[in-house]
Amino acid sequence: MKLVVIPGDGIGREVVPAAVRVLQAVLPALEVVEAEAGWRTFQRLGVSVPQETVEAVRAAGAALFGAVQSPAWKVPGYRSAILTLRSALDLYANVRPVKSLPVPGTRPGVDLVIVRENTEGLYVGEERSDGEVAEAVRRITRAASERIGAVAAHLARQRLTVVHKANILPLTDGLFRDSVRRVAGEKRPDLEVEELLVDVAAYHLARTPERFDTIVAPNLYGDILSDLAAVWCGGLGLAPSINLGEGVAVAEPVHGSAPDIAGKGIANPIAAILSGALLCRYAWNTPEAAETIERAVRRALESGAATPDLGGTLTTEEMTRAVLDGM
Ligand code: NAI
Ligand code: MG
Repeated sequence: MKLVVIPGDGIGREVVPAAVRVLQAVLPALEVVEAEAGWRTFQRLGVSVPQETVEAVRAAGAALFGAVQSPAWKVPGYRSAILTLRSALDLYANVRPVKSLPVPGTRPGVDLVIVRENTEGLYVGEERSDGEVAEAVRRITRAASERIGAVAAHLARQRLTVVHKANILPLTDGLFRDSVRRVAGEKRPDLEVEELLVDVAAYHLARTPERFDTIVAPNLYGDILSDLAAVWCGGLGLAPSINLGEGVAVAEPVHGSAPDIAGKGIANPIAAILSGALLCRYAWNTPEAAETIERAVRRALESGAATPDLGGTLTTEEMTRAVLDGM
């Protein structure tokens, strides 16, 4: 088993080493190599993701990406590192499990997965404008809808919710819905498949998140709904995700580089640690290792271990040790 670690910028450099320690504790044979990407890389090399990094991830089949800083102004030649990796490696499925964790103020009983199509929809980046009228292409293909449908059907336990707006967009969202339904029916005849319009889905996600099992959505809807759902896992410091392609997976905490706390040693490593668990489950097919990590995280949180974002005083190092102690 091989892992490429891409710490990136800011707190990515603090939380990724923590997650690697936890992974190595459950998978002693794991071979770890480091690669670079991000804003610092761009300033040094003129690209946010060097070709060697792409090749290393392709060869290893698995990567843990920390976070990168993106400039808040337009920089010629700069392209977001995670977007570059997603397209270079055709990481077509963005998977975000949202599970209640034992931290104060969160809601118990939530255990859902959002599967977002990662390559098309409004994110194809084809915009035009004459200054008075501006338009963007929203591309949906049968092929991409079927392959995301297959991932979602595979991950769903009992019920798959297909999110769309086919009442307004019958051709594009209709194609998405019908393709997902067809492939889900073929691969998982045992699944209950339901449909929700995206606005209704947002309402239910905010009101009764416990009702969901697995949600599959086109790119933009998935992007928005997955941030909404992240509320239920107890905050950015706790939310993991993974991008899946054919034979390649890149896990990443949902949070960014957090410049406000970077360098202070107080970033919450749990989101990165749980992202490591997702690699165990989805890239290496070692679900026992994933469960060991997730159990240790729950134990640490139950015992009251908390970094400042959770109202506590632990450092990244102390929080990591609390997780390792529970394994
Ligand atoms: P952010 O996620 O970095 O931070 C938002 C807030 O949450 C901050 O107050 C931060 O301190 C806190 N926070 C985030 N993760 C935390 C953790 N693990 N422990 C404790 N507190 C945590 O989002 P923001 O501030 O909008 O963006 C900062 C930079 O990160 C920007 O340059 C942005 O472009 C980039 N970014 C990168 C992402 C990625 O690499 N995938 C995703 C989101 C933002
Ligand atoms: Mg987002």
